[in-house]
Amino acid sequence: MKRQFIKTADGSTSIYLEEMEEHYHSIHGAIAESNHIFIENGLLSKAGNNEISVFEVGMGTGLNVMTTLKAAEENNLNVNYKTVEAFPIKLSELGNINFSDLLSMENSIFLKLHSVPWEEENNLTERFKLTKFESKLDGLRLDEDQFDVVYFDAFAPEKQEEMWSESIFTKLFKALKPEGILVTYCVKGSIRRRLQSVGFTVEKLKGPEGGKREMCRARKEGKRNH
Ligand SMILES: C[S@@+](CC[C@H](N)C(=O)[O-])C[C@H]1O[C@@H](n2cnc3c(N)ncnc32)[C@H](O)[C@@H]1O
Repeated sequence: MKRQFIKTADGSTSIYLEEMEEHYHSIHGAIAESNHIFIENGLLSKAGNNEISVFEVGMGTGLNVMTTLKAAEENNLNVNYKTVEAFPIKLSELGNINFSDLLSMENSIFLKLHSVPWEEENNLTERFKLTKFESKLDGLRLDEDQFDVVYFDAFAPEKQEEMWSESIFTKLFKALKPEGILVTYCVKGSIRRRLQSVGFTVEKLKGPEGGKREMCRARKEGKRNH
């Protein structure tokens, strides 16, 4: 599919797929959306942990890797980040993306996250480990009880319904530690009910400024003592 590079309302780059009529991020601001949904309401709610284990569904442009790395440095967090991507962007396309400038980060780190090898653990910085899997999510084996936070950043359910299935949610529920959370921009009632049906406790939170009114956070409740 042909990737078209566009600018969103906060000046940050995103990608539009004409064939699918779908954007990679909110057109109201890609960086603003990433910071609000995945960092403030995902990563930072686990800031008390010695190491935060993150799994991102759909690495795409690497924006959430960048915002997570920045937050890790600013908040002295150690992050073990794993991500899956079925259709990686090409290294020759990276010049179209302006995240480093807008996040005041070294562009070398952006280039590094895209060029480190797949399927192995890489130390991006002293406190940030990155493992990228080039695979479809449903073909990827995930150990149970390993993640604190899942960033669920798939294309919208109207565009790629199979990513929002009960079997995918069950797999992610199992892969989360007790008290682990899944955050996503989608608050559709049918999707929230599906998350609940596999065991999550689901809440709606305020959405990013200027974008969708709400977002969703789903929690795997810890085991209770009876
Ligand atoms: C909404 S975009 C989000 C991209 C990314 N989080 C970013 O900030 O650029 C969804 C991503 O999921 C990827 N994707 C689509 N189908 C997939 C699948 N079955 N398994 C893993 N990734 C998939 C797409 O290629 C795309 O990069």
